Amino acid sequence: LTEKPLAGKTVLLTAGPTREAIDPVRYITNRSSGKMGYAIASAAQNMGAKVILVSGPVALEAPNGVERHLVESAKEMHAKTLSLADKADIFIATAAVADYSPANIADQKIKKSEDDLSLKLAYNPDILFDVSHQFPNLFSVGFAAETEHLVEHAKAKMQRKKLDMIVANHVGANKAFDKDTNQVEIIVKDGDHDKQISIPEMDKSELAFKIMNVIAENA
Ligand code: C5P
Repeated sequence: LTEKPLAGKTVLLTAGPTREAIDPVRYITNRSSGKMGYAIASAAQNMGAKVILVSGPVALEAPNGVERHLVESAKEMHAKTLSLADKADIFIATAAVADYSPANIADQKIKKSEDDLSLKLAYNPDILFDVSHQFPNLFSVGFAAETEHLVEHAKAKMQRKKLDMIVANHVGANKAFDKDTNQVEIIVKDGDHDKQISIPEMDKSELAFKIMNVIAENA
């Protein structure tokens, strides 16, 4: 193994949550901290890659030397990522993209009343699906957070989103989101039979290197 196995490669990543505006002062988001994505960006950088990170709002600094593009909504993340995809050799979608966003963003702060309020939500674009279908030469990697049937669901996702690799992790009470450790199963496309690699629970920064090593060996 060379010391910089990703020298000459460009890695594009999405990371963090997205923030979906309801009105000028309110939004919908999720508990993603961006830690896993930022750790992967940093590992890729250390392995010699040029790293481009498209990030939602997080409390993390960009790793040194990483080109970071900050975005808020899923639609912004989608547009920015697709505009950068032709520069990349490897695409890794770690972002916890909101699946829905308010169908209409109110121009003014919504005034409260004692009545119930309904928000109509519209389906957001799938960034990973669009990148892998529009840029078939990229080595595309997705994440699958599941509460049950981990490997089955991950494999189905891998096929539907046309991925070369998927990293599956159990989520639920006290697992993965906003934690410093993670335990994953990696599935790599290998002709007809996929390869499965189990990685025990470990620190996200150490796990990031394991994941990047599998990518470097297969991309
Ligand atoms: O379909 P699901 O959300 O479970 O898929 C998770 C994978 O797809 C992750 O890699 C995530 O970053 C990516 N994704 C995306 N755009 C979306 C939804 C998910 O890139 N709108």
